[in-house]
Amino acid sequence: MIDKNSPLPIYAQLEEQIKERIESGNLKPGDGLPSEREYCERYGISRMTVRQAINNLVNDGYLRREKGKGTYVAEKKLEQQLQGLTSFTEDMKARGMEPSSTLLHFEIVPAPESIAQLLSVGQHEPVYRIRRIRLADGKPMALETSHIPANLVPGLTPDIVAGSLYQYIEERLRYPIDHSNQVIESAAAGEMESRHLSIPAGCPILLIQRDTFLKDGTPIETVKSAYRADRYKFVTTIRR
Ligand code: GLP
Repeated sequence: MIDKNSPLPIYAQLEEQIKERIESGNLKPGDGLPSEREYCERYGISRMTVRQAINNLVNDGYLRREKGKGTYVAEKKLEQQLQGLTSFTEDMKARGMEPSSTLLHFEIVPAPESIAQLLSVGQHEPVYRIRRIRLADGKPMALETSHIPANLVPGLTPDIVAGSLYQYIEERLRYPIDHSNQVIESAAAGEMESRHLSIPAGCPILLIQRDTFLKDGTPIETVKSAYRADRYKFVTTIRR
């Protein structure tokens, strides 16, 4: 029901009602929403109002639009723990999802200045530059660009990084991955993220930079990842 005398704007009332139906499980991921016109007729409200409510829910990740088809209830976001240094492969397997990667770049390049600093190698020393689309059950979740010192990590191949990099480092090389510094910030998808993550340009993404070190403090990897903000949320327990 919409209450036209309520101090709450009509778009916000409609927004709350749709949200409520999603949260209660009345509307499930993948369900189609009635058209804007149907909402207008059902509640006797303007198209602008309906559009505003739906836009807000799309921006908040409750709904997704498919061009030329309609608006659907979005998949539930994956909850990613912030504590614990885990790999993409481990994270997906722990959820019962199948991890895979599409390898876009695999090359050895002279370390650019900023990368050389992060990896504590001399400028122009060889580093792997690896770009992968990370998928869960075949759906793109993140676009990751890693730099790894080539002299420290011998024998890396495209086949290996199509699977788990951490597994290779820990199980084959027997290097103890110890800790990472991680920064998370929001951004809008550019052309590259849009193409590889199958989202419209301008959509929100989560940018994560992770610099990872071995037990003795040697930097082993620096990664820039773009995660789909409509598919991910980060959770943590805080104490005092
Ligand atoms: C996560 C991290 C990356 C790391 C990757 C390793 O995705 N954000 O920084 O490179 O895990 O994953 P895997 O061992 O599956 O290659």
